[in-house]
Amino acid sequence: MSSDLLFSTFQLKQHTLKNRIGVAPMTRMSSQQDSVPRQDVLDFLVRRAENGAAVVYTEAIVTDYESAQGYPGQARILTQRQVDTWRPVVDKIKAGGALAIMQIFHCGRMGWPEVNPAGRIIAPSAVPPAQDNPLTGEPYPVPDEMSLFDIDQVINGFVRTAQGAVEAGFDGIEIHGAHGYLINQFLSAYSNRRTDGYGGSPENRYRFAHEVIQAVDTVIPEDTLLLFRISNWGVADMEVSLFADQKEYQAIIALLAKEPLDAISVSTYRFGDEAFGSGKNMAALTREVTSLPLFICGQIHDRASAEAALEDADLVLSAKSILLNPNWVADVKDGKSLPLHSSEDANVAYTEEPLP
Ligand SMILES: Cc1cc2nc3c(=O)[nH]c(=O)nc-3n(C[C@H](O)[C@H](O)[C@H](O)COP(=O)(O)O)c2cc1C
Repeated sequence: MSSDLLFSTFQLKQHTLKNRIGVAPMTRMSSQQDSVPRQDVLDFLVRRAENGAAVVYTEAIVTDYESAQGYPGQARILTQRQVDTWRPVVDKIKAGGALAIMQIFHCGRMGWPEVNPAGRIIAPSAVPPAQDNPLTGEPYPVPDEMSLFDIDQVINGFVRTAQGAVEAGFDGIEIHGAHGYLINQFLSAYSNRRTDGYGGSPENRYRFAHEVIQAVDTVIPEDTLLLFRISNWGVADMEVSLFADQKEYQAIIALLAKEPLDAISVSTYRFGDEAFGSGKNMAALTREVTSLPLFICGQIHDRASAEAALEDADLVLSAKSILLNPNWVADVKDGKSLPLHSSEDANVAYTEEPLP
């Protein structure tokens, strides 16, 4: 590997990225009733672009007012006011030399009634996560099994949200298919017990993701990037492997590879961990099935870990390190000794304290 692959350019469709480092999507729970993030949270994204990241993701943006929201204070882009709030942020991220990508999300069974304006919790099947909700200290509610009408309605939410992102000028849209949220719930037999065409075989469990991707693709311009994030773990019941084995995971990636996607983003707990007893990590297993550009994330905290992660992927994403250190990209470039942060360290993300 060239000694400075990390700071070499990368061609992503029509965009030449200045390096191989991106800011991972991070929910900050700062929005008030208007579903618009606090100004300092938006400024934080702009600063990360100005300070050297080649890609800047937004937090997960909620796709409707009925059932999509999973945390207090999440943001939407469904109204003109919300679009108008994001547009100058996007302009500044681009002026800072980074790609602006909006992640769009439905929480599925990870919600609870108080957090959604319409109080409804829906999922592929009427099965809640096993663990309690850490934010309420209560069990997660039993979700309603989604009807075909619900499925159509939720897809409409993804479409409207993608249209909002286009209107605000985003370079790309990422469909959140990871972390045990709705799309991931359909993909995994752990949460999908349906007996209709959306459940059973991996191909059937993939159907909902396919319909979301196709519906979004038809409303975005040809030059707007479309990405998909995937993981084998969820934020609830974290120890569960969401795909049964390597074969099942790679079958899903092979289906994604046929879609009009511009990249796949693989989220791991730790990028180098062996996956499915294969002797290889998640990025390497993904690479075996697709030649799409690949982003990797998970405990990449310094130059050595970033370079190691790039052996199997095209771009590295950081969440906690770049959250806590505004100069992280420069520090990585300088090869500084940098800490590996704990999840607790990241709790400042949810306070009202503006981050540098
Ligand atoms: C404060 C915070 C908020 C997060 N919010 C999101 C999110 O909205 N969407 C998402 O896909 N991942 C989210 N994540 C997960 C990160 O994108 C990333 O996958 C994870 O933190 C591992 O990367 P790291 O080891 O560099 O922190 C969040 C992580 C943190 C720390």
